[in-house]
Amino acid sequence: MAEPSLVPESVVLRTERRWLFAMLAMLAAMTLVIVVTGVAGALHPSSNVETIDSQTLHLQGEFVESNLGTAVEPDGSATVRIVAMQYDFLPNCVEVPVNTPVRFRLTSPDVVHGFLLPDTNVNTMVVPGFVSEVNTKFARTGEYLMPCHEFCGLGHHGMVTRLRVVPAERFANKTSLERTSCVQQ
Ligand code: CUA
Repeated sequence: MAEPSLVPESVVLRTERRWLFAMLAMLAAMTLVIVVTGVAGALHPSSNVETIDSQTLHLQGEFVESNLGTAVEPDGSATVRIVAMQYDFLPNCVEVPVNTPVRFRLTSPDVVHGFLLPDTNVNTMVVPGFVSEVNTKFARTGEYLMPCHEFCGLGHHGMVTRLRVVPAERFANKTSLERTSCVQQ
């Protein structure tokens, strides 16, 4: 003989069905958020799988110190190369032109760091052994603080760099040395 249930079976079924629909609605809402931010905001998870030897990146290749900062490509776009390390970004201030495609390329010689530009689509982890790449374009001039947002050790809270978005004419008039870093200005 079946045990008498405290809650009638029809009520249990109805409740379960409602929760199932609530869960499916949440799932649909979250999927929609991912699709909308991906299509409209270009907010993508970093998918650049490119390896680099973290032991020798300061000695050879594109991440040697003289090559860091902002470089202008033949097509007019900008490439910013940054090394994230305990506990600073190198260089720790970069300038880019406004309304111009900007490609960030980052790597780390030590541990995992994070790279985030608030209110933009730039948000990536910087993993030793890999090159992180993010493409963006700035619609307004101004200054951004770029905090490391991945706990990387005791000095993590002080690991921050700056990005200055300047008018394209002003950027074009700079020497290659001034483009590499804006610290002295
Ligand atoms: Cu680097 Cu936190």
